[in-house]
Amino acid sequence: MRAIVLEQFGSVANFRERDVPIGRPGRGQVLIDVAAGSVNPIDIKTRVGRGAAKWFPVIPPVILGWDIAGKIVNCGPDTDTFSLGEDVFGAIGFPGLAQANADYVIADVAHIAKKPASISFEESAAAAMAGLTAWQAFNQNDGLHAGQKVLVHGASGGVGHLAVQMAKACGCHVTGTSSGRNRQFVQSLGADGHIDYQKTPIPNYPGDFDFILDPIGGDVTLASLGLLKQGGHLVTLNPPGDDQAERKARELGVVFQFILMKSSSSDMEQVAKLLGSRVISAHISASIPLSHLADAHLLMESGRTVGKISLIR
Ligand SMILES: NC(=O)c1ccc[n+]([C@@H]2O[C@H](COP(=O)([O-])OP(=O)(O)OC[C@H]3O[C@@H](n4cnc5c(N)ncnc54)[C@H](OP(=O)(O)O)[C@@H]3O)[C@@H](O)[C@H]2O)c1
Repeated sequence: MRAIVLEQFGSVANFRERDVPIGRPGRGQVLIDVAAGSVNPIDIKTRVGRGAAKWFPVIPPVILGWDIAGKIVNCGPDTDTFSLGEDVFGAIGFPGLAQANADYVIADVAHIAKKPASISFEESAAAAMAGLTAWQAFNQNDGLHAGQKVLVHGASGGVGHLAVQMAKACGCHVTGTSSGRNRQFVQSLGADGHIDYQKTPIPNYPGDFDFILDPIGGDVTLASLGLLKQGGHLVTLNPPGDDQAERKARELGVVFQFILMKSSSSDMEQVAKLLGSRVISAHISASIPLSHLADAHLLMESGRTVGKISLIR
C-alpha cells in the first residue's frame, strides 16, 4: 500500500511516498481501507520532533496521522461489534502511533465508531480528533449545563469550531474568540458573542464564565483564569510548562485542567450522534490529496486554519 513516511524529524521535505506492506489486524483490531483523513496540529508538532514525541516514543522513519474514515476490509478476532464492509471513522491510537497517512490502517475497535450514513468520509474524518477533543474537554466532571456561560478560544479552528456548536447544543451561552477576519464564521456556528483577540486584551473581556475551553495555552491560559466565576472550570489543550496556572487557579477558587485527548469508541459514538443529527458539522476549508501531505502540513502550520483541512485519497 501507499504510505507517506516521515524519514526524519524536521521539514516537510522529509516526507516520502513509499510502498509498504498492508498489516494484518490482531485481536480486537480491524483493517480499514481509508477513504479520508485529516491533519491536526499534533501532526505538525510531531513532525518536528515535539508533540506526540513528548508522550510516547516516535522514532523515524515513521508514518504519522490519526484521523481516518473508511471501510472495514478485514476483521481480527473479538471484533464482533463491527463487520466487514462497514463504514467507520475515528481518531485512532492516541496517545500512541496510528500510522493513518496511508491507504490502509489497522485500528482497535475500542477507538472507532460507525460513520453516520448521511455524513461523508471526508467530514467524519475531519471531525474525528477535533470533535473528540471538544467532547472530552466538555465532559470532564459533570459536563456542561444549559444556561452556562462558555468561552471558546480559537473558535474558528479545528477544535474550536466544533466546540462552539457542541456548547450551543447543550443550551449554553457561547462566546468565541478569533481574529476579526473570522468573526462571521464564528457567528455562523451559532456563537452568541464574538471577541477579536487581536483587538481586545483578555482582561477586558466580559467575565463570569462557567467554562473556558482554551486550545491556545501559555499567557492566554493565565489571563483567562481571571474571567471565570468562582468554581468555574478552564480546560487547556496545551500542556502548561510550569505550575503557574495551577497556583493562580487555586488562589482564584477556580478549576484548571490540562487534558490530553484519548481515543475512545464510546466518546466517538457521541460525536457520531451529533454529526449524524446535524447538531454539529465539520467545516472543511481545504481538501488535499494524501500524496500532497506536505502542502496540508504547511497550510496547518500557518496557524490560520479555518475549520479543518482534510486529506482525500
Ligand atoms: N490536548 C489535546 O489532546 C489536544 C487535542 C487537539 C488539539 N490540541 C491542541 O489545541 C490547539 C488547537 O487545535 P486546533 O486543531 O483547533 O488548531 P487550528 O485549527 O490550527 O487553530 C487555528 C485557529 O486558531 C485561531 N487562533 C490562533 N491564535 C489564537 C488566539 N490567540 N486566540 C484565539 N484564536 C486563535 C486562528 O484564528 P485566526 O486565524 O482568526 O487568528 C485559527 O482559526 C493546538 O495547539 C493543538 O495542538 C490538543
